[in-house]
Amino acid sequence: MKTYHELLDMFNKALAEMPLDRNPQSLYAPVRYELSLGGKRLRPVLMLLAYNLYKDDPEKILPAALGLETYHNYTLLHDDVMDNADIRRGKPTVHKVWNENVAILSGDAMLVLAYRLMSEVDDAHLRNVLELFTETALEIGEGQQYDLEFEKRMDVDEAEYIEMIRLKTSVLLACALKLGAILADASVEDANRLYSFGEQMGLAFQLQDDLLDVYGDAETFGKNIGGDILEGKKTFMLIKALSLANQEQRAELEQWLATPNEKCNPNDKIHAVTALYDQIGIRQLAEDKIKYYFDQALDSLDAIAVSSERKEQLRAFALSLAGRQY
Ligand code: IPE
Ligand code: IPE
Ligand code: MG
Ligand code: MG
Ligand code: MG
Repeated sequence: MKTYHELLDMFNKALAEMPLDRNPQSLYAPVRYELSLGGKRLRPVLMLLAYNLYKDDPEKILPAALGLETYHNYTLLHDDVMDNADIRRGKPTVHKVWNENVAILSGDAMLVLAYRLMSEVDDAHLRNVLELFTETALEIGEGQQYDLEFEKRMDVDEAEYIEMIRLKTSVLLACALKLGAILADASVEDANRLYSFGEQMGLAFQLQDDLLDVYGDAETFGKNIGGDILEGKKTFMLIKALSLANQEQRAELEQWLATPNEKCNPNDKIHAVTALYDQIGIRQLAEDKIKYYFDQALDSLDAIAVSSERKEQLRAFALSLAGRQY
């Protein structure tokens, strides 16, 4: 069995060697740029870890792991256009270095490359793998659509938020783990438990991402702080703040949210909304929620019919994520 650090190294080597020597260069340069910016490589490592629970030749599924990471990076290219985000992984986003048309088309190329890589799995697993991957990709688009629609709404509730982040974020982590299980011929029960583990961890992970978007350090986080506030994202924090605020706080919050960024100093908006979160005690609430979902995830991991010794790497990886600052 390999440690998660070994699997990460193995994956990063394969990524560095991924052939992308097609023309025009202008279509593939942004693909190389995005993939070389770093990133945690969470999804491919989860896939390799899940596979490694059952089988000792994880190198066999590297093409599918590359496909998953390429797919994830495609979603980031388009997400940054939709979210007007200028910085990703500490570097200017593709639509800033090039332009939006480039981000759309290079993103499309990445989606197609991801499918090609994913189809390199052996024939015996191809149908199951493509079925899960395709269903997941559709769900992510659905989550992203809700995320955008919620920007315009003020009545989004916590359950709607959780379902939105389950779709836009959790299902890909869950899919990564289940793909690892499917490729390793694990039982259907275990494959589904790994999926649940990923789903719960994904909810914690996106709640954390939303928390870091307000309270993180820009340099470590690699993204601009306050982006979600400026975009009017209906995060758990904002939903909770709106429901727990007193009349005065609620009026102030609503007024800031109704003020277009061009009509105010955006930094003032970020500071004012953050100050309201502080007054209302939102950070603690979000941290409690994150812990709740991480604990749920670890319970699902416990239920998997593999020795605790073999599950240790997956547990350690989940715990390292729980303390992430980026
Ligand atoms: C960013 O994902 C998008 C979210 C689902 C929050 P990651 O935080 O995994 O991004 P990288 O790949 O490590 O940069
Ligand atoms: C991203 O959610 C989800 C997907 C990319 C599918 P966010 O919009 O919060 O991710 P970041 O903060 O830009 O990484
Ligand atoms: Mg987004
Ligand atoms: Mg975004
Ligand atoms: Mg975010």
